[in-house]
Amino acid sequence: MSKVNLKPTTTMFPLPAMLITCVDASGKPNIITLAWVGVVNSEPPMVSISIRPSRHSHGLIKASQEFVVNIPSEKMIGKVDLCGVVSGRDVDKFSETELTPMPAQEVSPPLIEECYVNLECKVKRIISLGSHDLFLGEIVAIHIDDTVLKEKGRINIAKALPVAYCGGSHEYWSMGKKLGWYGYTKGKL
Ligand SMILES: Cc1cc2nc3c(=O)[nH]c(=O)nc-3n(C[C@H](O)[C@H](O)[C@H](O)COP(=O)(O)O)c2cc1C
Repeated sequence: MSKVNLKPTTTMFPLPAMLITCVDASGKPNIITLAWVGVVNSEPPMVSISIRPSRHSHGLIKASQEFVVNIPSEKMIGKVDLCGVVSGRDVDKFSETELTPMPAQEVSPPLIEECYVNLECKVKRIISLGSHDLFLGEIVAIHIDDTVLKEKGRINIAKALPVAYCGGSHEYWSMGKKLGWYGYTKGKL
């Protein structure tokens, strides 16, 4: 293989394409598309989201200390893109996308009903990194649509149809096919 050196950037793929909901002091909800989302701890269950301070959602999440991670399916890809190119300062993204806000259990931002999985989160820490602030959130409640639920609380990925955002190409991709499962090579190598 012949490698080409490029200047250091955040080229990494695949990344999750997620819809994060947040709410202002009057209760008006907003949606922001984020790809810089990760799982960072299991006990307690925690996620990270990385947001530029200039985003409207940044101020809302910083003030309320709450957000919901909603996992979209590929059927919603146009809405995922739209929530990432317009601001809640100018547009009511719930009306614009016709997505349905649904009351959460432990936090004020709503769940997005059309997303099969919703993770309610409370902010534990905010770390300023430079261009972005990293919000570390504890997952305090989870909602999963029963149509994508398999035995033992596992998710049926063929039905959930998650979307990958590829940082190296600026494109959305679907997941393709199952290649194996965690630990399937044990004893075979
Ligand atoms: C696929 C995709 C991924 C994005 N990921 C991030 C991200 O991880 N962090 C971020 O600050 N902005 C990200 N953005 C940009 C915001 O979604 C965008 O600026 C949005 O309009 C901000 O909305 P708001 O002003 O209502 O908060 C992403 C946009 C797209 C389309």
